[in-house]
Amino acid sequence: METQRVGTTLKSASEQAAAMIAAMPVQPKSIRCPICRWQGLSYAELIDHYAAEHPGIVAPVVVTLNVNGKMCTLIIEPHLTLKQVLQFHLGLIGAKQMCDRGACGSCTVIMDGKATLSCNILAAECEGKVIQTVEGIAVIPKWKPLIDAYCKWDAMQCGYCTPGFLVAAKVLLDRNPNPTENEINEALSGNICICGTQPRHSQAITEAVRVMAEGGAFNA
Ligand code: FES
Ligand code: FES
Repeated sequence: METQRVGTTLKSASEQAAAMIAAMPVQPKSIRCPICRWQGLSYAELIDHYAAEHPGIVAPVVVTLNVNGKMCTLIIEPHLTLKQVLQFHLGLIGAKQMCDRGACGSCTVIMDGKATLSCNILAAECEGKVIQTVEGIAVIPKWKPLIDAYCKWDAMQCGYCTPGFLVAAKVLLDRNPNPTENEINEALSGNICICGTQPRHSQAITEAVRVMAEGGAFNA
């Protein structure tokens, strides 16, 4: 998540992430039929609408997720993946969809403390789950050295895989704050970078570990 120019001011990664989290809706923005765009006032009306106008089609479901510390109740189509719901219902674009088949790790989020491929799980199956995305990591000052180290070591080119690597690194450091290079490479083995940045990740994470252990600010 790089620094972004907005108007005449530069927004840091943590500021961008905080803005995205603040904008997440905690209730459905509207009751709208995803097929015909009919609009109603309640979920019960939507179910009646499906029965009358779209018989035989599975109606949207209600799911409540704890995302980056916010309880969000959503009305979603049951076929949507967690990745799609994070992006299209909550506006969180950090997790990326590269392979869409559980092979690359670019969509990794943390669910109940475990690295989880958000392209590979239906959001409807995540009722009550506690989910942390790369945005939720970026707003925590403790993890700023990790993000800064990725910038310093050029551990990104197109950047598409980077959020998934950062999330996997955070999961690793939560359970092992002082990993060896082998342990880092093993923890990141489910993440693929087609730009060829793979060797840079262990350098970045190793330096972030050192900076965090010293409790100092990162001097990129
Ligand atoms: S997009 Fe989910 S694993 Fe590749
Ligand atoms: S930086 Fe491009 S896919 Fe990794």
